Amino acid sequence: MSTEPLDVPKQENWSSKLGVVLAVSGSAVGLGNFLRFPGQAVNNGGGAFMIPYIISFLVLGVPIAWCEWAMGRLGGRYGQNNAPGIFYAMWRRAPAKGLGALALLIPVVIYMYYVLLEAWCLDYCVFFIQGGFASLFAEAGGGAAEHGAVVEKVIGATGEHFNTACGLTEHGALFTGSGRMIWLILACFLVNFLVIYQGVTRGIEWFCKWAMPLLILCAVIILVRVLTLPNISTGLGFMWNPQWSSLTDPQVWLAASGQIFFSLSVGFGIILCYSSYLRKDDDVVLTALSASSTNEFCEVILGGLIVVPTAFLFLGASNVEGMGTFDIGFITIPAIMHFMPGGSFFGAMWFGLLFLAAVTSSLSMLQPAIAFLEDGFGLKRRGSVAILGVVTALGAAPIIYFSKGSLALAHADFWCNFCMILAATGTVFIFGWVIGAERGVREMNRGADFQVPRFVAFVIRYVTPTFLIVILVAWTATNAGDYIDGMNPAKCGLSAERDTYATAITEHFAEAELSTDELAAKITGLLGAEEQTLEVAALPDWLQTAQRKAQDAAAAGRADANIARFVFIGIVSIFILLVVLSDIACRNRIGRSIDAAERDGVAFEEAAS
Ligand code: ALA
Repeated sequence: MSTEPLDVPKQENWSSKLGVVLAVSGSAVGLGNFLRFPGQAVNNGGGAFMIPYIISFLVLGVPIAWCEWAMGRLGGRYGQNNAPGIFYAMWRRAPAKGLGALALLIPVVIYMYYVLLEAWCLDYCVFFIQGGFASLFAEAGGGAAEHGAVVEKVIGATGEHFNTACGLTEHGALFTGSGRMIWLILACFLVNFLVIYQGVTRGIEWFCKWAMPLLILCAVIILVRVLTLPNISTGLGFMWNPQWSSLTDPQVWLAASGQIFFSLSVGFGIILCYSSYLRKDDDVVLTALSASSTNEFCEVILGGLIVVPTAFLFLGASNVEGMGTFDIGFITIPAIMHFMPGGSFFGAMWFGLLFLAAVTSSLSMLQPAIAFLEDGFGLKRRGSVAILGVVTALGAAPIIYFSKGSLALAHADFWCNFCMILAATGTVFIFGWVIGAERGVREMNRGADFQVPRFVAFVIRYVTPTFLIVILVAWTATNAGDYIDGMNPAKCGLSAERDTYATAITEHFAEAELSTDELAAKITGLLGAEEQTLEVAALPDWLQTAQRKAQDAAAAGRADANIARFVFIGIVSIFILLVVLSDIACRNRIGRSIDAAERDGVAFEEAAS
């Protein structure tokens, strides 16, 4: 390896402890806290959900965060702010470069769809300010006096608005009409890249220093409003009364651990990057705990007490139970605002705070790749920002285009979640087995405001990896089948075709008032068993009239499967590209800079002494 000197720009550092805590908690606090958590909790046992959630926090969230913080800070001393360089400094083997590529891939791909959600929040905030929802509700609520009927109309109106504004009914819908969402997405890109361009201290830290307190203040104001609503205790009871039986359901445990991953941004490669901007003796133990606790406060107290209790109070249980994150976020919440006094004001405030929370998270998804381009290839800020801007725009475009049913987004999210668990397992492996857990914990304790107890080394070496592997296997076994089937054109086509005939059968027998089981038996009797190829000629005449529609649905189903494949192949291609780039950079610039740091005396041993 060449020993020629490097033109290494001066390493940036966070300007204060508060700054780094706000930046890391800004990365963690996002849509996951305010939208994903309430839906997960209420659909997975209410108060009982907190048991697997707290266990996942203690066994996965905190130990992995500590590993990432300690490794990131150590990597920073080797002159590395990028995941491949950080891992490679600790483990001079090929898998370290691959793991580094994975830790770059995750935040970049998440950004590609997260920016779309960010734009949805901005759109809703602006629409509330413009009085758009007020007119929508006035039209929807007019004429219906009975509360249930008004609720139904208002939910119907917000549902329709969501489908139209976010392009959920047709692929390409966002590119037709006024193009409002496209402009908002461009605005989000601009905000993110302008802040990133300013750098870690003058950009990210500055932004998070005002955005985090502001968004927490807004959430607290909304919480006070919610907690002073008459009868809110019934809503709180609905959300938090424990359903203990849910604890025997493995899906609940998977949901809890998935929530911890997404919410704390562990396994994303983000904490590694952010902590590499710390100084050698800056505390990581308490800082990591402070950032994690801020995240939990925003999630459990602010996210957990606002959305579901209010929705239950105004809209009833049926409009909350079983609903997905997006439905709760973009249909239920705006509907609540129709019934809540001062709803337009609080609606704008709520979506404004969501927008800020999303930006503080999306910024953190960009910085790891910026650091890689700069450390690995010596690019200046302008070049790295321009390249990443083009790459993320190219990646986001198909996700924005294939918007029907959030299809591309859902597939990208699935594969990112899978990669997150893999990346976290790799990180903990390097910490616990390559660096050595005992030595790693000594490094973690350097400059710490309080010392991590020694049993944490045992947890990181044995307990966390075991838990991670169990989750990886269980999660893949439970969820992967659907997503893999979703990439199979023959299966998707057939299932869409059957669904169309099933709807026609249901309509045909509507007057007969059959029970669900009787109806299911009729459907199977007429269409044959699931996954069996349909014989259209064998169907009765009245059902054959649905043939045209069914064929169209089958064609759309096959097209959707191809889109899902495209997303998968796209992610794999980006990963391969990153592996190649990671290898090139580690062989050259990154490798030389690690060698130079070692010659200057940086070493684990010295670090751990
Ligand atoms: N941790 C971020 C969130 O919760 C990604 O939205």
